Order: sequence, then structure tokens, then C-alpha cells
Amino acid sequence: MGMDLRQAVEADRVHRHVYTDPGIFEQEMDRIFHRVWTYVGHESQVRKPGDYWTVQVGRQPMIMIRHRDGTIHVLHNRCPHRGAMLFGNRSGNAGPTITCSYHAWQFDTDGACRMVPLSKGYDGTRLAPGGADCHLRDMKRAARVESYRGFVFANLAADGPSLREWLGDARIAFDDMCDRAPAGEVEIVPNCFRVIQNSNWKIFLENQLDALHPAVTHESTGKAAFDVEEEMKKRGGHAPLSYHYMSAFYTTPIAKWDQFQTLNYPHGHCILTGYMGLRPRDPDTLAYEEAMKQAYGEKRMEEILGVNIHHVLLYPGLSVQSPLQQLRAVRPLGVDKTLTEIWHFRLKGAPEAMYRRALGYYNLVNSPATLINADDLWNFWKIHQGLASDGGEWVSFHRNAGQDLEEGGVVTSCIGTSEAPMRNQFRAWVDYMGAR
Ligand code: FES
Ligand SMILES: [Fe+2]
Repeated sequence: MGMDLRQAVEADRVHRHVYTDPGIFEQEMDRIFHRVWTYVGHESQVRKPGDYWTVQVGRQPMIMIRHRDGTIHVLHNRCPHRGAMLFGNRSGNAGPTITCSYHAWQFDTDGACRMVPLSKGYDGTRLAPGGADCHLRDMKRAARVESYRGFVFANLAADGPSLREWLGDARIAFDDMCDRAPAGEVEIVPNCFRVIQNSNWKIFLENQLDALHPAVTHESTGKAAFDVEEEMKKRGGHAPLSYHYMSAFYTTPIAKWDQFQTLNYPHGHCILTGYMGLRPRDPDTLAYEEAMKQAYGEKRMEEILGVNIHHVLLYPGLSVQSPLQQLRAVRPLGVDKTLTEIWHFRLKGAPEAMYRRALGYYNLVNSPATLINADDLWNFWKIHQGLASDGGEWVSFHRNAGQDLEEGGVVTSCIGTSEAPMRNQFRAWVDYMGAR
């Protein structure tokens, strides 16, 4: 459609083409997803040498793999010979070498070519050892790979901020999650849910910190859970805590969401504060607190458990709910097609009941099996359809525009339901896209 990007984004509204134009999507791939830090996985996904996971970074099929010296590498999933993908499976163990299934070229687990079969045929060619193309025997690596507290990120651009700089204050997503483990780290639970949404990737990210929608979109699901809780109480029992996570969508009115805040950081990152029922006084929580006290002492434990975060968004690809060890990674596949990987983690050293709690939240709120997620997916599809129509040109982010407090590059929303997070995401978008 050739729209001038500088006219597509204003301080309080965004043109619909930004969500629906395939040309803009291609530019986003080049200017955003091929330049930012993309979460590729957790170190515990690849424990042993040769362990690998395939992952999409921008448009690129890649693998995260553990080398025999313990280092983790992120490599393009492509054979340097004639281009075949080297790994067709989602995950597994490559053994000591990676072998191509086409003509059996072999690579080390750091991507270096180890052996080209029938090598005589290359004698005297540019691909022979010492030849001008000799370097083309190796698998191509991500330009940069860094990890923070066990969470591995790759970047396809050699220049730009370090992972640590890019995360900035939003690194609390990982600190809060890991500090809540008595052993100070988390472990992956072996697999994730993968959901393909028929909508643009930005619609998912905008929804993550949208405190205005839960009381509307999730009301009926919350009410159903609330009714079950009440029924169980009437019968003299009580519902598991995981029911509370669902009923909270019904029992938390918008006025309460407004008491929370969003903290909007550079690069589009954002934190939503506040949380429902984070420290109940049930025996499981008390046993967990005892383990935390043993590990950290009472003062530090109180600091850790006092961190008041509901949600951290790391723009443009990650949504983390640290108090419940949940993480969702966004992998755009097309202008109207977005893959989300939904993961959860185990707090190392915590009682099993705490893991069951994370699993309960995972299944009841974030998984594709729950109505909460279905409520959102239905909205995402409807939003994309509406934006593809000629029923209007602009998407409104006017709510509380001009009323938020900005200090030192951080925007604090005046109320929880301010559309500050979406405005902040588009500030970053405009910078990445060079559309200022
Ligand atoms: S394509 Fe991989 S060895 Fe030929
Ligand atoms: Fe939702």
C-alpha cells in the first residue's frame, strides 16, 4: 500500500495498515525482528552436549544447541552444502556431531565443519582447505548470543545494545522469577503449548498489559469459576487456588485494575504492577516460605516475595508473568499469523506444591485448553478482521493520553487502564522502523 510510516503512527492513534499491510510486515521483520534480542530458550532445555531445540528468529529457522565444552550456540538450521535444513525435528540430541541427511557433511555442535565426505572431489576448488570459500563449510551462527539468568537470547545484528542494556529495568522479569526459587534459578518443564493466532503479532502484545479487557472479555469464564468456588464452599470444602486465578477475572472490578500501574520503559518494555492472591496463608505457601527463609534469611525473603509485579512485557517478543513462572514467546509468521509458545517453569528447590500451582495457572489461564485463552484468541481474530475492513482508518490509543507521568525516560501510567503501554510500544516501533 506504500503508506508513509511517519504518517501511520501518531501519539494517540495508529493507522490500521500498520497491522494489515504485508509490506509493512516485511519491513518489521528486517528492521525489528532481525535487529532485536529474540528469546530462543532456557539453558535447561539443552542440558547435555548435543541437545538442541529448533526456534524461529525473525524469518530464520535456527537451532539452540549445547556444545561439548558446555557453551550454548545459536546456529542457522541450514547445511552450507546445498542448503538442506539440518534438523527437521523440534528437539532432540544430535550426538557428538551434526550430520546432514542429504550428503552427510558433518559439523561440530558449535557449527564448525568437521568433515566433508569424499573430499577428494574438492581438491583444487575454492572450497578446499585454504581456498577462498573454505569458510563457507561452516554453519552460520547468530551474530550474537547472550543469556541472562539462564534465559538465552540471540540477535541477528552484530551491532546494537548488549542484552543487559536492552533489557534495562525490565530484566526484573527474570530476577523476580529466579529469586523466587530457593536455589536461585528456574528449570524448564520439557515442552510448551504452541498456538497459531490468526492475527497480527502486535495485537497479542497490546493485549498483554491491557488491564481494561479482563473484566469484560473474561467475565463469563471468571463467573463460571466463581460459581464453582461458591458451590464448593457451600458444601463445606474449598476450591483449589487455581480456581481463584480464574474467578479473579470476575471478582476484580475495573476500579481495582485502575489502582495498579504500568511502568513503561525504553525499547517498548513495560511492567504491570499488582497481583491477586500472591501470598495466601495456606500450608503449601507456608512450607514454601520456610524453604525460602532457609535459603535467603527472613529479610531477603520478604524483599523477594514483596516484589509486586503482575506481568512484564519485553517488546517485541516476550510476555512474562514472573510470580507464577509463566512465559510466552511471540514468533510472527505472517502479517495475519502469529505463533505463541507458552512455557512455564519450575522453581528449583521449592516444594512440589509450588510447581503444581504454576502448572494450574498454566493450564487454566494460559493454555489453549482454557476458556481464558479462547476468549482472547476470539478477540484477536475479530480485531484483525475489523482492522482489515474499511470500517475506519484509525486504532485509538487516546485513553489517558497526555496524563501519564514521564520521568527519566520512564512513563508511569496515571491509572492501570491507561493505554500508556500501547503508546509506549509504538514509540519503540517508530524508532526501530526509522519512522520518526
Ligand atoms: S545439503 Fe547437506 S550435505 Fe549436501
Ligand atoms: Fe485476556
